[in-house]
Amino acid sequence: MADRYAVIGHPVAHSKSPWIHTEFARQTGQALEYGRIEAPLEGFARAVDEFRAAGGRGANVTLPFKEQAFSYCGEASARARAAAAVNTLRFEGASIYGDNTDGVGLVIDLERNLGRAIAGKRLLLMGAGGAARGVLQPLLERGPAVLRIANRTARRAEALAGLFQDVKGGGFGDLAGESFDLLINATSAGLANDTPALPQGIFARGAFAYDMVYGRDTLFLALARAAGAATSDGLGMLVEQAAESFQLWRGKRPDTAPVLAALRGR
Ligand code: ATR
Repeated sequence: MADRYAVIGHPVAHSKSPWIHTEFARQTGQALEYGRIEAPLEGFARAVDEFRAAGGRGANVTLPFKEQAFSYCGEASARARAAAAVNTLRFEGASIYGDNTDGVGLVIDLERNLGRAIAGKRLLLMGAGGAARGVLQPLLERGPAVLRIANRTARRAEALAGLFQDVKGGGFGDLAGESFDLLINATSAGLANDTPALPQGIFARGAFAYDMVYGRDTLFLALARAAGAATSDGLGMLVEQAAESFQLWRGKRPDTAPVLAALRGR
């Protein structure tokens, strides 16, 4: 019987993970099944218990359960502990191991797929929720010259920045007069056709703007283009974080380029 995996979230109906992992399995010649589990909002742990009891070998965890997944696992990677969130679970007998591949997925998309260096750059991370927290440590490890966090609710950004050394946090208004080389939108504003309220001149010459939202042209990316910046949505991050999960489970890293190209409909 094929090994079983699933994405667990609420909602999960539109998740691209089953398609992506099925492609990875085909490409690497692995026998596995990958499904979707929509857990009730109050029923994450029970849904995972049931999946494990039925022979599940691992799972991806998506909104809104990543923090609960961190509490659920017996052992977690250093990057999952820094994020206080888990997007990948691996089950082996009684052991439950948790990892967080979101940050490394973003870093690989930026550096390898998009050819954008992080080292030495002035980096602005927008947002202070789980999406921002999940990528902070891996971004810092790449050695940006400056890493600033800005959020609509300034105190959330201050609190998040306080967990890391040499990171400053505040509101968008506090950024007046500053400019950044790399701007990463980890807010959910794009999903509501909104954008963080950025001051004029925030995009440095040659700046690159990245929105973790994928599959739509967000207002933030339109604003960035109007200011002369190059842009990308977050589809590459989605595929790269999946590839890192696949590697943790199967010991093989798939080739992401054809999968990303197929998702982009090229
Ligand atoms: P996630 O896990 O996706 O980060 P979250 O914890 O709900 O989800 O955080 C959502 C983030 O998007 C927050 O940083 C939120 O800002 P606040 O902390 O001020 O709520 C941000 N956000 C959501 N809608 C926004 C909007 N219209 N403009 C600016 N920021 C927005």
